[in-house]
Amino acid sequence: MAETKPLLRALRGEAVWPPPVWLMRQAGRYLPEFRAQREKADFLTRCMTPDIAVELTLQPIRRYHMDGAILFSDILILPWAMGQSLRFEEGRGPILSPIRSEHDLQMLDEDRLMEATAPVREALRRLTKELPKETTLLGFAGSPFTVSCYMIEGGGSRDFMHTRQLMQKNPALYDALMDLLTRNTAKMLCGQIEAGAEAVMLFDSWGGLLPPEEFRRYVIEPTRIIVEHIRKHHPETPIIGFPRLGGVMVEEYATKTGINTLALDTVADLPKIAKMVPEHITLQGNLDPMTLLNGGERLVQEAKRIRDTLKGRAHIFNLGHGVMKQTPPEHVATLVETIRNV
Ligand code: CP3
Repeated sequence: MAETKPLLRALRGEAVWPPPVWLMRQAGRYLPEFRAQREKADFLTRCMTPDIAVELTLQPIRRYHMDGAILFSDILILPWAMGQSLRFEEGRGPILSPIRSEHDLQMLDEDRLMEATAPVREALRRLTKELPKETTLLGFAGSPFTVSCYMIEGGGSRDFMHTRQLMQKNPALYDALMDLLTRNTAKMLCGQIEAGAEAVMLFDSWGGLLPPEEFRRYVIEPTRIIVEHIRKHHPETPIIGFPRLGGVMVEEYATKTGINTLALDTVADLPKIAKMVPEHITLQGNLDPMTLLNGGERLVQEAKRIRDTLKGRAHIFNLGHGVMKQTPPEHVATLVETIRNV
């Protein structure tokens, strides 16, 4: 049967017009109904309770009829599920017990992964029944490199110094961590697909910190292995890669990893990127979240410019990074209307 969901069609390489739209962090603190749920349970509990995760995933779908519903979860569920301690603190973001030695690494237990992440798959199974029939359900994970940054640093950072130090000073240990993450990310994503995710996205928020040789070894190669593994089990499932701040390396990333869709950050210059990246690869992005926050005529003009620049090519409208929590919800409504009103 021919595919009818607009987002899935675009993910499979079709130039759908107007382009399907969804936003990174579309379920988030900018929505009053999200903040109301927030008072009921902490972040990890919200991720791991299927009723809540389903409700939070659906909130932006009800309001804006987005073409894609991204599961409410987090990239740090993977290390947490293998036993690394994790909490989220207001104003500080995630806090983990840092992994910096052989001994720390040995404390992780990959055998717990599938059992510990069972509620995530339960949420996906419920979503397949609750979503409107034209909405595409997206699963996701962090890339091994980006997840390793938080695991080694123990939280967010500007430069992830400890991670980059460990990578260069103890490559054997760093490689062992990368192997563990690569294998288990692939396994977890296959589990999400089996539970109903129709496409999956790999978030590589920090790969852009690396010089080209390290980018090839720690971003492109692990991503290629994950894509290969998913393809072996689920050849039809589209995969989106988001090498944020990857600069000119994104072209090599797109062609060497085997992903279907390249998600572009805010700094990507669309006309240039569209020429660099082969036509069979769908592009996703790349409105500046700040433009969405500010709204007004500029939002409308920018949204149309991005949409129209890629007319005739497979494109999924999105931001270049997540919705900011200060964004007025009505700006999101304006954006979605602008994209669909051709
Ligand atoms: O996009 C979506 O709506 C789906 C859910 C989603 C979340 N995080 C929910 C979340 C996704 C896809 C992510 C990905 C994620 N998580 C990334 C990669 C994308 C990016 O932003 O670069 C990263 C690096 C993380 C790690 C993480 N989680 C950080 C650094 C933080 C703190 C930042 C903050 O805004 O407080 C989180 C927490 C988090 N993940 C929130 C949400 C909605 C906010 C927590 C809250 O509601 O209290």
